[in-house]
Amino acid sequence: MLLILSLLACGTPDYSNGDAVAGADVYASTCESCHGADGKLGVEVGGTPAADLTFETGDLGDDELARVILEGEGTMPAQALDDTETADCIAYMRATFTGTDTGGDDTSAVGG
Ligand code: HEC
Repeated sequence: MLLILSLLACGTPDYSNGDAVAGADVYASTCESCHGADGKLGVEVGGTPAADLTFETGDLGDDELARVILEGEGTMPAQALDDTETADCIAYMRATFTGTDTGGDDTSAVGG
């Protein structure tokens, strides 16, 4: 379950208390073109398909997701989001992509 807190983060960025509603817009405009609305589109960049977010999201911590978004990962380019947009996007992903990596092929992930 995801608690959506309206507290403002102080000091170091806290990517765990974003707003999933605001994050839907961030995701749609920033990530959807490669990852798809369902997280499974898998558009190829440099021969590598965009990761299936239905299980990557559950597999990675908030700070790790933020690092992927802000710095890029492999062939995925860094995304120009600020800390608030990043936290909101992560909250949206956690609310939407609820599968977990079972360690094998992604055959059991349930879309949101
Ligand atoms: C230009 C296409 C593109 C965009 C835009 C994009 N991604 Fe990706 N993403 C990729 C590709 C390609 C990979 C696989 C990279 C690799 O494994 O080399 C990936 C991988 C990932 C991963 C898995 C990283 C890992 O450790 O395995 C996550 C999580 C992710 N993207 C989240 C996002 C989010 C969130 C956004 C929007 C803020 C986003 N991506 C925008 C193409 C994209």
